[in-house]
Amino acid sequence: MSGLDGVVRGVHGVASDVRAGLAARAGAQGGTNPSGETQIDADVWADEQFFDALSTLDGVGQYVSEERADAVDCGEGHAVAIDPLDGSSNLASNNPVGTIVGVYDAALPATGRELVAAMMVLYGPYTTSVVAREDRGAVEEYLVEGDEVVSRGACALPDDPTVVGIAGKRGERSAACDALADELERELKLRYGGAMAADVRQVLEYGGLFGYPAVEGAPDGKLRVHFESAPLAYILESLGGGSTDGERSLLDVDPDGLHARSQTFLGNAALVERVESALA
Ligand code: AHG
Ligand code: MN
Ligand code: MN
Repeated sequence: MSGLDGVVRGVHGVASDVRAGLAARAGAQGGTNPSGETQIDADVWADEQFFDALSTLDGVGQYVSEERADAVDCGEGHAVAIDPLDGSSNLASNNPVGTIVGVYDAALPATGRELVAAMMVLYGPYTTSVVAREDRGAVEEYLVEGDEVVSRGACALPDDPTVVGIAGKRGERSAACDALADELERELKLRYGGAMAADVRQVLEYGGLFGYPAVEGAPDGKLRVHFESAPLAYILESLGGGSTDGERSLLDVDPDGLHARSQTFLGNAALVERVESALA
């Protein structure tokens, strides 16, 4: 079994248990994560589940998590960067949440060009995962039910975009971003649900654009490069889509720390080009 097989099976192997444990852990845990955000019980618990499943695998050399300040040295092998529970503030309102994983062939911090695989698990009405790997020709989706993991086939990004979801409040984004959001919301249907994994899955299904721009008080936006923006950019770009921080592919963003953030846009390439023109 290759190192990538181990990580994919490890994530799939705990996804159903993570889903089953969410309802009882939707409350605030009292701590803050390294990004300074309030931790939900489930953030910390899910991180422990994935750490136990991944950190001892052959071929995993480093474990980096949204919920841990420092990298954990696991020996030789790939660096695994994980957002154990993406969109965890959605738990209290029983809205979708996810898990995002990037597998890097370099010690972190590193750019997304070092990615060799990315996974996005979505805990919606049912549990699915989207998996992009350098050693596979297609980006594949799986249905995860209990211990059963069944392929749903290859993903394909629709050519014609339908949805748009750009975070932030008007007046707290740049004027150029506000103007772009107004324009796109006249052309496309608004889909923004507060969990990047769920919003990006809408883009994968219907075509469109997701973004978390620079906002007042957060000049680099909110999303973290290693375990949110770059892995999902890897998936989108593997499907012929695009990504940008406003100037360049998110895979070329060079993070200065494990929890570095980046302004983030992902979706159809033509829409990503419009973002770069609008924000230039
Ligand atoms: P996390 O729960 O892992 O911190 O991620 C939440 C992120 C992302 O999933 C989502 O797109 C964004 O935060 C929502 O932010 P707002 O609540 O500011 O819209
Ligand atoms: Mn997240
Ligand atoms: Mn998270």
